[in-house]
Amino acid sequence: MLKPSDRIVILTGAGISKESGLDTFRCAGGVWERVRLEDVATPEGYARDPDMVHRFYNDRRRGLLQADVRPNAAHDALARLEREWPGEVLLVTQNIDDLHERAGSRNLIHMHGELLKARCGVCGAITEIRADLSVEDDCADCGAVAEMRPHVVWFGEMPLEMERIYQNLATSALFVSIGTSGNVYPAAGFVQEARINGAHTVELNLEPSEGATLFDEKIYGPATGAVPAFVERLLALR
Ligand code: APR
Repeated sequence: MLKPSDRIVILTGAGISKESGLDTFRCAGGVWERVRLEDVATPEGYARDPDMVHRFYNDRRRGLLQADVRPNAAHDALARLEREWPGEVLLVTQNIDDLHERAGSRNLIHMHGELLKARCGVCGAITEIRADLSVEDDCADCGAVAEMRPHVVWFGEMPLEMERIYQNLATSALFVSIGTSGNVYPAAGFVQEARINGAHTVELNLEPSEGATLFDEKIYGPATGAVPAFVERLLALR
């Protein structure tokens, strides 16, 4: 039984931003049906054609910054949980949008990086960006030319802040996975980490994910309905 002092770890995927108008990757009409991930989400693809990669992320960045793309009730509910749950709530997102921040979440890890940041391939400096990025851009810190890339983790690269994520999974009493298909590791393996450490595990998704059988509890339906209701249930335990 969950105590108010207990730590909660939440993992989100593209499904939580779907009702804000952002595409998922593997659902019908998803991103990987329109462009090959090998071409735009691997270091090899970037080396082969950096212009194509910049165009891909520039299009997604422009889409994210459109006026009608806003956090939805699921993002808002997770920010409320962080504010009102007495114990620590760590939100780990696979998403590179900034909708969790805009909803007010603060204790947040972007394990796959962020669309609104660029990174210098030479000195590693990270800068906020809202405009298009191109191979002509140079690094404001070290001056390297044509080395600025999206601060996004590509397939074959190490996700960010993994040690902090595993430390939190090792001491969490509740692990909640929201809006992810469970196709991509290491995120898809977090539920096993949580189970090994005795956490109660819950999946909220539109349909069963690849790892559905690993969860103690499953709640299926659109995130904007399921997540606020789940957060209400948790806050009633205080
Ligand atoms: N509410 C809840 N869940 C939803 C909704 C919704 N409205 N719409 C879709 N979903 C679910 C789908 O059922 C699917 O299981 O969201 C999940 C999205 O799965 P993916 O498209 O595979 O996205 P994700 O799991 O975040 O992908 C993980 O793969 O391509 C890489 O780096 C990329 O971070 C991404 C990672």
